[in-house]
Amino acid sequence: MNRSIRVNLGARSYDVQIAPGMMGQLSQLTLLPRARSAVVIADRVVAGLYGQQVLGVLKSAGLRGHLIEFPNGEANKTLATYSKIFDELFALRPAVDRDTIIVALGGGVSGDLAGFVAATALRGLRWVQVPTTLLADVDASVGGKTGVDTAAGKNLIGAFHQPICVFVDVLALRTLSDDDIRTGLAECVKHGAIRQVALLEFLESPANQSAIFARDADVLADLVGQNVAIKAQVIAADETEAGLRAHLNFGHTIGHAIETLLGYGRISHGQGISLGMIAACQLSLSRGLVEQSYASRLEKLLDQLGLQVRWAGLDGDEIIRIMQHDKKNRDGKIRMVLPVGPGRVDVFTDISADAIRATLRYLAG
Ligand SMILES: NC(=O)c1ccc[n+]([C@@H]2O[C@H](COP(=O)([O-])OP(=O)(O)OC[C@H]3O[C@@H](n4cnc5c(N)ncnc54)[C@H](O)[C@@H]3O)[C@@H](O)[C@H]2O)c1
Ligand SMILES: [Zn+2]
Repeated sequence: MNRSIRVNLGARSYDVQIAPGMMGQLSQLTLLPRARSAVVIADRVVAGLYGQQVLGVLKSAGLRGHLIEFPNGEANKTLATYSKIFDELFALRPAVDRDTIIVALGGGVSGDLAGFVAATALRGLRWVQVPTTLLADVDASVGGKTGVDTAAGKNLIGAFHQPICVFVDVLALRTLSDDDIRTGLAECVKHGAIRQVALLEFLESPANQSAIFARDADVLADLVGQNVAIKAQVIAADETEAGLRAHLNFGHTIGHAIETLLGYGRISHGQGISLGMIAACQLSLSRGLVEQSYASRLEKLLDQLGLQVRWAGLDGDEIIRIMQHDKKNRDGKIRMVLPVGPGRVDVFTDISADAIRATLRYLAG
């Protein structure tokens, strides 16, 4: 079944189309005004798996297609890679001009990098996203945040640049590792916890859990659709993170600090935010904002999905120091999103260092 979800942003509105085999629908690009050429940007792994298929679709639709590859992994989401992509892009001139469409093919790293290229090349090119990881399907491909990491931190350089369309092909998840599926599932739990108990119930179903890991296309399309609808709703209410969009950071403040402390690669993003969500629940519990049964419920779900629920040996002072440098803080205060009931969260700015230390003791089990 095909699903199409509208991201309502006035003149920058677009559709997220979700279906098995959606990559074949890239021929729709020929419907765009002045569409003559498209440049596909993908990491080497994804280019090897899907690059020729996508180029084939573009070619048979009558578009000039080119593929630019970069080495995979978060470590390559840098200005150096961005600059190399530009060298290759401009070497294609005159085939590349202001009407060229950038196709971001791959996970969140390709999306952020290719999107930032599109945001800045020739003062802005049209771009489409073709996500191939569950994280990119349910999260990174909606909302138009693009950018790269620097030595000082993740995503510190970037721009808001909305794509003109998103093509989610759930069949691409067949080749994705279970660990990467889990990273995406952590974001799904986040979406349920901030907006929709029904999504938590969907994830709690043992039948759905098995179907997700068996890569059942219908269940995956349903899952992606529910998540995109939630993220689209949040983005439409607050495109540039002045308010509500901050709710999407649930689990991410402590989660990012844990990722930074352990070093990227020692723990996946999904595992980090799983711990972050559990820590946030504990803070809510200590303030009487949620019932014990709800904190236990979220923890049980994360555990069932194969996500990390305990981590010993986290250095509290270091975590707090890293949290104080979070770019989402205002006036040096630690801001955190905490659950205030099933499917509901709020932003708090009065989190004490002692309360954070107590939650880290809880995580140590
Ligand atoms: N822009 C946003 O709103 C937003 C939101 C969330 C996360 N992000 C960013 O997303 C990034 C993480 O994304 P990710 O988890 O998708 O990582 P990723 O893009 O690095 O992909 C993970 C790995 O899976 C491989 N891969 C991708 N698709 C595959 C497939 N179908 N089959 C087999 N292998 C495949 C990739 O080569 C890579 O090695 C981070 O940089 C994060 O900052 C951005
Ligand atoms: Zn995340």
